[in-house]
Amino acid sequence: MNRVRTAVLISGRGSNMMALVEAAKDPAYPAEIVCVVSNRADAAGLDFALANGIATKLIEHKAYPSREAFEAALDAYLRSMKIGIIACAGFMRILTAGFIVGWEGRMINIHPSLLPAYKGLHTHERALADGAKTHGCTVHHVTAELDAGPIILQAEVPVLPGDTPETLSARVLKEEHRIYPEALAILARSLQPNTSI
Ligand code: GAR
Repeated sequence: MNRVRTAVLISGRGSNMMALVEAAKDPAYPAEIVCVVSNRADAAGLDFALANGIATKLIEHKAYPSREAFEAALDAYLRSMKIGIIACAGFMRILTAGFIVGWEGRMINIHPSLLPAYKGLHTHERALADGAKTHGCTVHHVTAELDAGPIILQAEVPVLPGDTPETLSARVLKEEHRIYPEALAILARSLQPNTSI
């Protein structure tokens, strides 16, 4: 089986990246995590990737004079690694259309809300402020419009009395760790050359 070479982009804790790495330890999983890229040197997830024998790459946006220059460096690295899928996992940089167009259909993101509700940041706080009864997470394709690409999978959780942003985000995060590996597998299978006769 040709496993699809996958890069995971992170900016911080990296718990979703860890879920993808754990899933990909199964040789039957259709994607292989070949590198973890961070735009921040202090991203805790980098240590986990190193400890798991995965190539890590720091491409600090601050080191580049423009968004385009940062994205050119990111693009060059991913192409040098012969990447088939980019999985954004808590990657907190907005990518421009110029970068995205070269990866469309092969770049996915996990977002902590039931899109199209609560695009952008502070999703748990906003759901609680609205008195939402349910909340959740979404894995979607990345397109030029922020958090608006085609949805691959969603998971819903209840909002419970007394929830805080922390308790709600913990409930959602558990579902993120479940659906992100499933969604990556769905995309990887769809991109694999059909080898059956
Ligand atoms: C996750 O909850 C992810 O859905 C969210 O950041 C967190 C990263 O956690 N992503 C976004 O808000 C993207 N706009 P992690 O680093 O532990 O995976």
